[in-house]
Amino acid sequence: MSQETLGPDPLSVFESWFSEARALDPRFADAMTLATATPDGRPAARTVLYKGSSDGALYFVSNYGSSKGHELELNPRAALVFFWANLNRQVRIEGTVERAPAEWSDRYFAARARTSQIGAWASAQSQVIASREALEARIAEAEARFRDQPVPRPPNWGGYRLLPERIEFWLGQDARLHDRFSYRSTATGWQVERLSPNLIAHSSVERRGRRLRSIAARNSTGGEQNTAW
Ligand SMILES: Cc1cc2nc3c(=O)[nH]c(=O)nc-3n(C[C@H](O)[C@H](O)[C@H](O)COP(=O)(O)O)c2cc1C
Repeated sequence: MSQETLGPDPLSVFESWFSEARALDPRFADAMTLATATPDGRPAARTVLYKGSSDGALYFVSNYGSSKGHELELNPRAALVFFWANLNRQVRIEGTVERAPAEWSDRYFAARARTSQIGAWASAQSQVIASREALEARIAEAEARFRDQPVPRPPNWGGYRLLPERIEFWLGQDARLHDRFSYRSTATGWQVERLSPNLIAHSSVERRGRRLRSIAARNSTGGEQNTAW
């Protein structure tokens, strides 16, 4: 793989890798690790789902009152990692996060399944809850509250957009020399550089990649996209 093959726009490269991963196996192709940190530098990471890109930003949704919500409020710097085992590819994205416009969140929320909409009202994400029964009681309460009417978007729930400053593509190669390309946003556009790969323990990655690619090829028609979030 070369810089010329990848092209000058990392978001287009990302979208084409994402489409390939989803076509091969839609189950969790959209799952990404989101890392945030407190202002004093304590990191936390969790999985969230990728909800598409527009105007150069990547979108995800969450509860604004969650731990990640508080962290992003105080320190908007964040990182995303996608790993598509079936393609033996990784994408790392770093940048700053801001809340998506309210209209984007309203549109997204309105299109969700009603059960997910009710769930967004029922769960005070990241707060301690006494039991599963207590959570079920909160769901029943929200169902009763919105019976026979559309469920509005809760004020503490919505989208975030990450504006990338660095995007790195990692492509595991059978020839043992993995490709890494780093795109950095500069005043004059994206600057791309080839980075040295990890040369240790890659043979197990290659074996695993080959094995998973053949499993994925066999199962490529299975699986649904994730609609819970
Ligand atoms: C496959 C998968 C997808 C998830 N998608 C989301 C998501 O899109 N948004 C979200 O807020 N949490 C999502 N979660 C739950 C988060 O990983 C996490 O538990 C939750 O957001 C609370 O994180 P926090 O306490 O760090 O804020 C997902 C979890 C998994 C395993």
